[in-house]
Amino acid sequence: MAEFTQKVDHSMKSLMSKQLPSTTTTLIHRAIVGAPDWWRDAVIYQVYPRSFADSNGDGIGDLPGVTARLDHLVELGVDAIWLSPFYRSPLKDGGYDVADYREVDPLLGTLADVDALLAAAHEQGLRVLVDLVPNHTSSAHGWFQEALASAPGSAARDRYVFRTGRGELGEEPPNNWLSKFGGPAWTRVTEADDSPGEWYLHLFDSSQPDLNWENAQVHAEFEQVLRFWLDRGVDGFRIDVAHGLVKAPELPDWTGRTTTATGRKRRPNVTDEGPMWDQDGVHEILRAWRKVVAEYPGDRVLVAEAWVQPIERLARYVRPDETHQAFNFEFLKTRWSVPRYRAVITESLEANDSVGATTTWVLSNHDVVRHPSRLGLKKAGSFPAGIAATDEQPDEHRGLMRGRAASLLMLGLPGSAYLYQGEELGLPEATALPTEARQDPTFLGTGGNKIGRDGCRVPLPWVADAPALGFSPSGASWLPQPASFARYALDTQLGVPGSTYEMYRAALHLRRVRRLGSGSLAWVVGLAGTKKKKVLAFINRDVMIVMNLGAAAVPITPGCAVLITSRRLGIDAEGRQTIPRDTTVWLRFSS
Ligand code: NOJ
Ligand code: CA
Repeated sequence: MAEFTQKVDHSMKSLMSKQLPSTTTTLIHRAIVGAPDWWRDAVIYQVYPRSFADSNGDGIGDLPGVTARLDHLVELGVDAIWLSPFYRSPLKDGGYDVADYREVDPLLGTLADVDALLAAAHEQGLRVLVDLVPNHTSSAHGWFQEALASAPGSAARDRYVFRTGRGELGEEPPNNWLSKFGGPAWTRVTEADDSPGEWYLHLFDSSQPDLNWENAQVHAEFEQVLRFWLDRGVDGFRIDVAHGLVKAPELPDWTGRTTTATGRKRRPNVTDEGPMWDQDGVHEILRAWRKVVAEYPGDRVLVAEAWVQPIERLARYVRPDETHQAFNFEFLKTRWSVPRYRAVITESLEANDSVGATTTWVLSNHDVVRHPSRLGLKKAGSFPAGIAATDEQPDEHRGLMRGRAASLLMLGLPGSAYLYQGEELGLPEATALPTEARQDPTFLGTGGNKIGRDGCRVPLPWVADAPALGFSPSGASWLPQPASFARYALDTQLGVPGSTYEMYRAALHLRRVRRLGSGSLAWVVGLAGTKKKKVLAFINRDVMIVMNLGAAAVPITPGCAVLITSRRLGIDAEGRQTIPRDTTVWLRFSS
């Protein structure tokens, strides 16, 4: 007989006792009653514009390229897109170094192209989020140029974090902080009289000076930037480095764990700790922005990029008057293990539920090794800061199978989910990019010691038998596409049963019609023929999601119909369908 926690609801109770004898069922998250806010169950697709589609043949993806391919996203079935930065930028960090927050980089298009993209997306029922980069500007930004030309102590310098150095002659950096991209987080400037001068803080590249969020002009400017894009019709913002805007007063030295890798063997930026991250003051800023977006019609949203832990700390970012969503990177970093998945999902739902927020699931983005490749490593699901040709190479097939299983797990969970362009094709990380092609400041800033993120930013393959695999009409591609990408091209997967693309499309459709994103989660333990440590199973509305990570195939629960599977099912001696290793299936209860 099934056991129930106090929280279990009655409709589920009868279902369980009838169809799942001998199981233990624990409800940890209730379904939303009524129609949810759009973002609570949305699937949002991240477009990295430089690598999505090139319209004019210069080998760099651009905004008209995105507009021309929106039909792909509509067909896939996502609710919204998030565009990584397209603003004027020297592109020292893929556009996360903004020189003008109100201008489009000429390589990517024009303001008119943004307007056209917004109009076309809205016409096709897609919402559009854009990136806000408030922690730092580019050193090419007018403000920073003005600061350099101004004297120490000037108003222009106060918009950034300038300090005098330590040591007798100020020759040492003001504190011991390190840049995420390698080396000290401080760079010394030369003053107007040619003397060695103050130092400025940059948590990232030296071309990305940190703004001073104690300065009222900085607050006023970003509010205006938000309004500029809201007035143009964007549906929200992804907030870059939301946890880094405010630093501890007096900028104390940090002797604890540093997240900056100085060599490839070091653990990468698993999470951010220290006096430069997750300070209470950031929440005031997020609250002010929430008020700004709330003034506009149409349920516009904010999503925080905040690499903080534990999950309870992250939940502080999604309190009712702060950001609507925050990426769940603890889920993204989870190793390939049933107990770990069970724990992270439970903790995430409980922490977010405690503040009335949605959990925002994610497996891949432009900063991390693509998830099929992470899952194809011997330590499946480990989290290297890039994979070089000389590193252990992921097992491509196993990684793809696991990646697909992880994606079906994610899409079966209640909450919102973000997809990163190319994951719907099952793209692996490009691990053999030539040194001269690499552009990530992580790679350049560590003398190649840390391989960086170029491998997940390679332009998409659209058509197997076309120049640049359909990415660019001229065949140019700013990062070379590996030959293997032809196998993943969209045209080779369209309409092909069992292809990764068709799996994502079917999953998004099922998720929508069965309202899984606004649904419930009840763990099921003890399904016939399963081991607790090898099989993850839960019920969300009338769907049971089962993920088998064990070597032993698992029988499909009698009376359940298979809705979708991440991998071809097996057949046992009695002719019953079974779930093979590294597979997720969605099952419907028959009633
Ligand atoms: C996070 C962005 O996602 C990443 O690409 C960038 O390098 C840093 N923030 C700095 O802006
Ligand atoms: Ca182009």
